[in-house]
Amino acid sequence: VKHLLGIKYLNEADIQLIFETADQFKEVINRSIKKVPSLRDITIANIFFENSTRTKLSFELAEKRLSADVINFSAAQSSVKKGETLIDTVNNILSMKVDMVVMRHPNPGAGIFLSKHVKASIVNAGDGAHEHPTQALLDSYSIREKLGDVTGKKVVIVGDILHSRVALSNIFALKLQGATVKVCGPKTLLPKHVESLGVKVETDLRKALNWCDVANMLRIQNERLDISYFPTTREYTQQFGVNKKLLDSLDKEIVIMHPGPINRGVEITSDVADSKQSIILNQVENGVAIRMAVLYLLASKIK
Ligand code: CP
Repeated sequence: VKHLLGIKYLNEADIQLIFETADQFKEVINRSIKKVPSLRDITIANIFFENSTRTKLSFELAEKRLSADVINFSAAQSSVKKGETLIDTVNNILSMKVDMVVMRHPNPGAGIFLSKHVKASIVNAGDGAHEHPTQALLDSYSIREKLGDVTGKKVVIVGDILHSRVALSNIFALKLQGATVKVCGPKTLLPKHVESLGVKVETDLRKALNWCDVANMLRIQNERLDISYFPTTREYTQQFGVNKKLLDSLDKEIVIMHPGPINRGVEITSDVADSKQSIILNQVENGVAIRMAVLYLLASKIK
């Protein structure tokens, strides 16, 4: 396949191949070789219909490190504002001889829709509350780097599972690799049939943290939230926020992750986010190598 639309469409061997390819790119970057010629004849358009800091910059850096030609499109400054459709927008960009499209879009399934209507290779950089495949890949890669393996590890995903594309892609990726997954959050922010994804629910945060090897703390997706769903921010923080006192009172030392952006003092306090148990910035660093690997492997299908 020439697209990466979701973890749902990958198997375990695909994930291992991406990790092994990322290992090689990470080694090259660590040797201060910041550019390789692999995608010299490939042009990539990054089209973002939703805000992003990490994913947008990480993809752009990955593309530049692979020597691809890069163009960036931000919906807010584009002719989308004049009524141009998604397909027209992308077909106009593709007529300039673009080979791959990296897209973030607020609508679930936008990447799947696009892949059926245009000729380029599509990489999903987050589609609404659906999937964020490269985030899940870099998250698992970071667990593998920190703990040696993902298989057999116990991971709890804490927070707004209902609206989180990071949660869904992580659940798919972790399960494929043989991790045990629990989700923890207010009942109003858990999908109704979340157990059907092969995860268990734990609504007591202390129990969840005492059980796990890794806690992936998620942001409340205020932009997708119906206010009536939500406990107040204060109640949320009291029940589901991680602070240093709670972390230090656990039976064991766990690994703390967060996909960003962080709402400091809500789901995680600064002394946890910045602690030695946190691998949050390692996740961001690994995102570049993972995206280099994904783009390199997809480009080999279209060359
Ligand atoms: N983790 C993540 O997707 O961050 P951005 O929204 O800043 O890209």
